[in-house]
Amino acid sequence: AMEQEAEIVQELGSLHGIPLYKSFIEGWPRVKAFQARPDDVLISTYPKSGTTWLSEIMDMIYHDGDVEKCRRDAIYNRVPFLELKAPGEMSGIEQLESTPSPRLVKTHLPVQLLPTSFWEKDCKIIYMARNPKDVAISYYYFHRMAKIHQDPGTKAEFLENFMAGKVPYGSWYDHVRGWWEKKQQKKILYLFYEDMKKDPRQEVQKILQFLGKELAEGIVDRILHHTSFQEMKKNPAANYETMLPILMDHSISPFLRKGVSGDWKNHFTVAQNERFDQHYQKLMAGSDLHFQMEV
Ligand code: A3P
Repeated sequence: AMEQEAEIVQELGSLHGIPLYKSFIEGWPRVKAFQARPDDVLISTYPKSGTTWLSEIMDMIYHDGDVEKCRRDAIYNRVPFLELKAPGEMSGIEQLESTPSPRLVKTHLPVQLLPTSFWEKDCKIIYMARNPKDVAISYYYFHRMAKIHQDPGTKAEFLENFMAGKVPYGSWYDHVRGWWEKKQQKKILYLFYEDMKKDPRQEVQKILQFLGKELAEGIVDRILHHTSFQEMKKNPAANYETMLPILMDHSISPFLRKGVSGDWKNHFTVAQNERFDQHYQKLMAGSDLHFQMEV
C-alpha cells in the first residue's frame, strides 16, 4: 500500500515551461502525436473552471437528453481526458482510441500546447473560463482532496503560488488569454462559468447553435435539470465518487464542493483581495477579456 501511495502523488515537472504532473509529461510524446478526428469536439478549460459541468451538458446534448444513457459510465470515462497519464491506469490516449466517434475530448492544455491535429482537422472547440478568485479557492480544495497533488500548504501560500503560475497547468492568466486570442482565427466557442450560473438555458442554446443542433424545449429542460449542481452532486456518474478513495478523498472536500460564483469572499482576507486585484489588473491589462467575480 505504501508503494502504491507513493506512486499516486506526482511531483510537478515542466512541459515547455508549463508546470505539470511528471507522469503526464512522460506520456506527452503520444499526446503531441494524437490524431484528432474531424468530428471530435474538444472541451477545454483551466482546471476547476466547470469542466465536469460542461462535460455532462455536452454528453446530454449528444444523447438528446437521455438521462439513462448518460449514466452508462462515469463522466471521466464518457469524456476522456486527453493528457491523463498515471501509473497503472489507462491513459487518456488509450481511452480515446477505444472511444467510438463522435467523441468528446477533455483537455486542460494551454492553447500553445494543443496537439496540432485538432487545428489541422478543424475540430470544434468549446472553452469555458471562470473567474480566477473562485478558481484559486476551488483549486486549493481540489489539491487537498485529489491525491495526485502534493500538500498545497496554507490557503495564503497556495494563493501566492496560483498568482505566480506555480501550479499544475501554470498561469491562469496566460491560459484564459491564450485561448481568448485564438478565438479570432479558430472555431472556438468561449463560455464563462458565471454566465452558465446566471442563465444556463441561454448558454445551452449557444452550444446548440455552435454545434448546429436543434433540440425540443422539453429536452433542453431535462438537460438543465439533470446538470444542475444538486442533481450532479448526487449522481455517481457525475460526482467522481466512483474514483478509488486513494485517488480522491471526498471526506476532505467533495469534488462537487459548492458550485457557486463568489465563494472566494468566504476565504480571501481584505488584504489578499487587494493584492489579488492589483496583480490581476497588471496581468490582464490591454485585454478585452473581462470576468465577473460574482453573479
Ligand atoms: P467549486 O469547488 O467552487 O464548488 P472542474 O470540473 O473544472 O474540476 O470544476 C469543478 C468546479 O465546478 C467545482 O467548483 C464544482 O463544484 C463546480 N461544478 C461542478 N458541477 C457543477 C454544476 N452543475 N453547477 C455549478 N458548478 C459545478
